[in-house]
Amino acid sequence: MKSLIYLGPGKCVWQDKEKPSIQAPTDVVVKISRTTICGTDLHILKGDVPSVEPGRILGHEGVGSIVEKGEAVGNFAVGDRVLISCITSCGRCPHCRRQMFSHCERGGWILGNRIDGTQAEYVRIPCADTSLYHAPNGVDEDALTMLSDMLPTGFECGVLSGGVNPGDTLAIVGAGPVGLAALISARLYSPSMIVTVDMDEHRLTTSKELGAKHAINSRSENAADAVLRLTGGVGVDVAIEAVGVPDTFDTCQQIVAPGGRIANIGVHGKPVTLRLEKLWDRNVTITTRLVDTVSIPMLLKAMMSGAIDPTRAISHRLHLSEMLKAYETFGHAAREGALKVVLSNG
Ligand SMILES: NC(=O)c1ccc[n+]([C@@H]2O[C@H](COP(=O)([O-])OP(=O)(O)OC[C@H]3O[C@@H](n4cnc5c(N)ncnc54)[C@H](O)[C@@H]3O)[C@@H](O)[C@H]2O)c1
Ligand SMILES: [Zn+2]
Ligand SMILES: [Zn+2]
Repeated sequence: MKSLIYLGPGKCVWQDKEKPSIQAPTDVVVKISRTTICGTDLHILKGDVPSVEPGRILGHEGVGSIVEKGEAVGNFAVGDRVLISCITSCGRCPHCRRQMFSHCERGGWILGNRIDGTQAEYVRIPCADTSLYHAPNGVDEDALTMLSDMLPTGFECGVLSGGVNPGDTLAIVGAGPVGLAALISARLYSPSMIVTVDMDEHRLTTSKELGAKHAINSRSENAADAVLRLTGGVGVDVAIEAVGVPDTFDTCQQIVAPGGRIANIGVHGKPVTLRLEKLWDRNVTITTRLVDTVSIPMLLKAMMSGAIDPTRAISHRLHLSEMLKAYETFGHAAREGALKVVLSNG
């Protein structure tokens, strides 16, 4: 089968690799019908995620149908259409029992990281009973793909960890798909003002269409100064970091209001300076989180009711075989006007 294989920093190929098969009775094999690329895949290609070894098939998002199943799988049958969570969970270990699936002793974020992922024609999903969701009939598969990672990440690591309350002021630093997912889901809580920060005009314009009151291009103005100006010098109640570089975390430290929260979402590959000399007396909370995807069922209901529409974060639709073009497009998002790129097969 064809798959996107990581060969080391800056290098990947679309090439044949053996089709996966059942290795444990709790596994299934899924034929991928939709997959997409995450900002984390770009971090992997930058060399920011050392757990990913050369030879690995990337990708941790997708929708498909089950073609093979292990004998211990009870919730799913061959032929079932499924949504793949980017987080694999056994449902039984101490971390899973606390709903912290991201740190599952048998899973966590392993797809496209420690085991082969979803940017391929087929993928093996371990602990299938507790790592997959039935795809409801009639739901748009492109929209569903946004529930593997993008939407739960923006919601859990940004909105829930940041404790967004009605009336709060909110800054989202990074208006990529994950930042926009935070924006879309934060609006469920009626914040009084949302400001977005990015360097990509297309993404900033999209953020305004999705409800941001102000969009700041940090290439043309100092983002922290601009946010402080917009909040009368006070800063924001919640600053969500959705990029994963030292500069943007620093912006969050400069704009958080007394009593506020900094919710880090970004995957960081470099050390960041913690400005405790400025923050120690400001009663702030800093959170970090790997998405648990515990919110998938709730977000699915919100999506099916029309309360949220994640397809607004999709800019390009390509065939699975155009994977390298998809990386080129997503990797040069500003030039290409790109947000989420959905790849489909059948
Ligand atoms: N914590 C988690 O569980 C989790 C899960 C998924 C993704 N992530 C991370 O979330 C982050 C966002 O993901 P994405 O898919 O939206 O990625 P993305 O690369 O598409 O978006 C990042 C955005 O940041 C902007 N940006 C880059 N440098 C900037 C700077 N100096 N100032 C302002 N803006 C800047 C880019 O223009 C882009 O729009 C990534 O770090 C990704 O790895 C974390
Ligand atoms: Zn991801
Ligand atoms: Zn577990």
